[in-house]
Amino acid sequence: MANYENPRLVLDSSRPPEPGRVTWRSPSNIAIVKYWGKHSVQLPRNPSISLTLTAACTDMTLEYALKEHPDPKIDLAFFFEDRPNEAFHSKVVAFLESITPIFPFLRQLKLTLRTSNSFPHSTGIASSASSMSALALCLCSLEHRFFQTLPDDDAFDRKASYVARLGSGSACRSIYPYAALWGHTPAFPGSSDECAVSLEAQLHPVFKTFRDDVLVVSAAEKAVSSRAGHALMEGNPFSETRYTQARLRTAQLLEALRSGDVETFGQIAEGEALALHALMMCSQPPYLLLQPNTVAILHHVRAFRQETRLPVYFTLDAGPNVHLLYPAQHADAVRPWVESALKPLCENNFYLADSAGEGPEEL
Ligand code: PMV
Repeated sequence: MANYENPRLVLDSSRPPEPGRVTWRSPSNIAIVKYWGKHSVQLPRNPSISLTLTAACTDMTLEYALKEHPDPKIDLAFFFEDRPNEAFHSKVVAFLESITPIFPFLRQLKLTLRTSNSFPHSTGIASSASSMSALALCLCSLEHRFFQTLPDDDAFDRKASYVARLGSGSACRSIYPYAALWGHTPAFPGSSDECAVSLEAQLHPVFKTFRDDVLVVSAAEKAVSSRAGHALMEGNPFSETRYTQARLRTAQLLEALRSGDVETFGQIAEGEALALHALMMCSQPPYLLLQPNTVAILHHVRAFRQETRLPVYFTLDAGPNVHLLYPAQHADAVRPWVESALKPLCENNFYLADSAGEGPEEL
């Protein structure tokens, strides 16, 4: 187990740092093999693999100054899209409190967080992966600025991924460009349950070009949160079978990502989407997040693929919205069909054209 607790990371108040700020832009990610079921503090029951996105991202600025009067409480002002937000504020304060053994200097600072998302509010696009990864990156930058402890990029990314995981499990995968693996698998040396690893070096070039059109079927808040969904896996009669399936698919997908096998990638993406929702339907109590238009889109995708032989696949998150995945070389053929057949099935005709991308950047 990594131990990032470090009581030495305390500022010398006789030599206070100049007030300053750090800003990161960090993207969301879409899981191909899904993380569903956890234990302890966001440790996964099975490994997962995702593509890192580009358009759906969070910009976060962390401003800091040494507190004038020492006080052990976290001192945070929080602005979401330029407005104070009490619900987010108390969540972030609780999270920062929980990680003070890792970053003890947080207790010494007066902090202001300013955050905004690239996608319109209330579109049903989850922001926990982009925001928690952005926050983790800001914190690691701050640590390095004060103590010069993270000069090595790999060590910096590993720690950022670890901290992002503590905030929101799947956020740990957003740290890396193009594709990431989170969770131990014998198929990938160095993989870990505690943080994600980059798959960029192993990735066939076709996967760097992947498009992800996020078809927003419903922007309404989900009836059952991901947190509750993970918890329900503990009593799910199919959980052990599911974890075995995910482990196997992780190994298969790693091979497909290396060799450029788009068809296997697509079959796994669709199989995982349907398995995830089947697990929800088999939970105790059972629940259903798919909407009629979700199911209509899934049928459209399969019919279009059969007709055109184009490698266009769907996947789903823990909600009704559909992610449409295909290599960029087919975009000219796919886009008119998305506009005419799928867009009318989206709430307010809204979809977000996203793609795999280079991962977070410091601004
Ligand atoms: O990271 P969480 O707790 O929001 O869970 C994410 C779960 C899925 O999005 C359904 C799958 C995944 O691996 O991202």
